[in-house]
Amino acid sequence: MESKSTPKVAVLTVSDRSSRGERPDAGGPAVAEAVKHYLGWDVVPIKIVPDEIDAIVKQLHWWAADDVALIFTTGGTGFSPRDITPEATRKVIEREAPGLVEAVRAASLRITPHAMLSRAVAGIYRQTLIINLPGNPKAGREALEVLAPVLPHAIQTLRGDSGAESSHRKPKTYIV
Ligand code: MTE
Repeated sequence: MESKSTPKVAVLTVSDRSSRGERPDAGGPAVAEAVKHYLGWDVVPIKIVPDEIDAIVKQLHWWAADDVALIFTTGGTGFSPRDITPEATRKVIEREAPGLVEAVRAASLRITPHAMLSRAVAGIYRQTLIINLPGNPKAGREALEVLAPVLPHAIQTLRGDSGAESSHRKPKTYIV
């Protein structure tokens, strides 16, 4: 029998300026709204950390220990010297899930060549799926549109029956 529970989802904004209160966080709320819109899942309160490996790793571990099934990070995946979200994520994940970020980059490339500049990674730590997204709010929404059709199945597979309400939507096929 399919489980009707919804997974615990978290969004981590990685931004020096937003963490200091110098710039409102636009990426985090955009991703949280897109999660609700495309999947109907609520998100635990958004956290904002600076572009520091230790701060990112600590928050990812904290949420994983708190039984969060799905974590999105926003920001810090580009080429600027402070962009280290993928490196921090790699310190946490045990198994990479490259197809997810490949699909996002492929779909985003149809919108902007700048999608090539995202170094985002995705992977699994224990029973938690972690996915890096770009900090741009529009990019975050576009990524959720790509990922949403497969996430219920991904989480259900990862966590067994306690993971997620099964999706009855037919996954959209992306032809690049
Ligand atoms: N993807 C989409 N769909 N739309 C965008 O505007 N911006 C790109 C890329 N991916 C973008 C996108 C840019 S300019 C960068 S630098 C990288 O994401 C990384 O962004 P980040 O450093 O905010 O994570």
